[in-house]
Amino acid sequence: MVQNDSNAKKYQQLIEDKKNLETLVNIKTKELADINKKLKNEITERKLIEAKFRDRVTAVQLVLRDITERKQVEDSLAREVSFRTTLIEALPYPTMVINKDRIVIFANKVARDVGAKIGGICWHDFGRSDYISEKDKEYINQHKTIKGLCSHCTFCLADKALAELKTCIAPEVKAFGRIFETYWIPISDNLYLHYALDITEKKQTEKQLLSSLNEKVILLREIHHRVKNNMQVIVSLLRIHSRRVKDVNLRKVFEECRDRVNAMSLIHELLYQSEDLSQIDFKIYLKKLCRNLCGAYETLNKNVILTVKQCSVKLGIDQSVAIGMVITELASNAFKHAFPTGKKGTVEISLFELDEKSVQLVIRDDGKGMPPEIDIMNAQSLGLQLSVATVISELGGSIKMERNKGTQFTICFKHRKVESKFLPK
Ligand SMILES: Nc1ncnc2c1ncn2[C@@H]1O[C@H](COP(=O)(O)OP(=O)(O)O)[C@@H](O)[C@H]1O
Ligand SMILES: [Mg+2]
Repeated sequence: MVQNDSNAKKYQQLIEDKKNLETLVNIKTKELADINKKLKNEITERKLIEAKFRDRVTAVQLVLRDITERKQVEDSLAREVSFRTTLIEALPYPTMVINKDRIVIFANKVARDVGAKIGGICWHDFGRSDYISEKDKEYINQHKTIKGLCSHCTFCLADKALAELKTCIAPEVKAFGRIFETYWIPISDNLYLHYALDITEKKQTEKQLLSSLNEKVILLREIHHRVKNNMQVIVSLLRIHSRRVKDVNLRKVFEECRDRVNAMSLIHELLYQSEDLSQIDFKIYLKKLCRNLCGAYETLNKNVILTVKQCSVKLGIDQSVAIGMVITELASNAFKHAFPTGKKGTVEISLFELDEKSVQLVIRDDGKGMPPEIDIMNAQSLGLQLSVATVISELGGSIKMERNKGTQFTICFKHRKVESKFLPK
């Protein structure tokens, strides 16, 4: 009985061990099957690689590299490119990136709407649009097959922009009934940004402004003309009255007034004739003034020669009137007082820039000389008084008189420079 029990136990143990063994075999078999499957895959891949590189590949090496940073750079570059593209796309005027062979690399919507084709040749695709003149369109149609380097558009400045690597602008290109300002901006020596700004409204405003400015210039000229005419009427009246006046002193007063008004009238005459309404070329003025003075004092003494020795100054209207008055007074004084009884003589006038800031006027005659009792700074007579006052108060300058083989006046004053305004006639 005891024997039977022990056998039964052993049998039971054997069954138990067999079970455990089977479980273990199953686990290992599964593991082997998995390994087998992996190996099979690797062998297939290896066969594929070997088939691809047969005759060349002797070894296949697997290298693992950390490309995290490269990936980040690539991502940020991609973001940058997409940002720029979005920017160009959003611009409200036709904008393209073009290479030097005129292939359009990128064109925004506005550009595409007027004919640009990405990948196409710029001037071919625009050949259909109003951008190109009829003559150029004809040329383009005949040469459709020519690719690259040919930019036939007569206004195109792309080559210049790429050669000199600087922005080039065509200030006026007409298309679609509008006016464009067209830009070529080099991005590299092979690529440029090409865009056009619609400046139609700006041009219209400019035109309106110019025409209104023209009207004003015409008006201003007209005013100077009328002032000159009115002054000439006064000059004639003074001349007529002076001839009728018997009193010598009174006649002198009329004559002096005539000369003064005449000197002013000349300035208005020059102004309405000149292109620049803001300043006077004093050389022309002086010549005219001298001719008038010679004419006026011819009967008194025709042996006096009045010359402009040097004159290279442009003066504003105020300074011109003031200095014109002074010259009239001092030159007519020379005619009247320096050469008594028809004596021969010369009067010379020079007006020049002493330096950048000041102007000098010299009036000299070789006559009898100023009487010794006359001190120009305390002159009792009106002519000299007015001249000195004009130089000091109106011109803010200085006046010096010298008695040296005649009389010489040297006047210095600050040059009040006026910005030259050349206006249409
Ligand atoms: N260039 C000159 N040469 C000689 N004397 C002159 C000259 N200029 C002026 N004078 C003298 O100075 C005086 C004063 O001149 P001015 O004040 O112009 O008065 P007016 O000319 O009315 O006599 C003149 O009367 C003349 O005697
Ligand atoms: Mg006088």
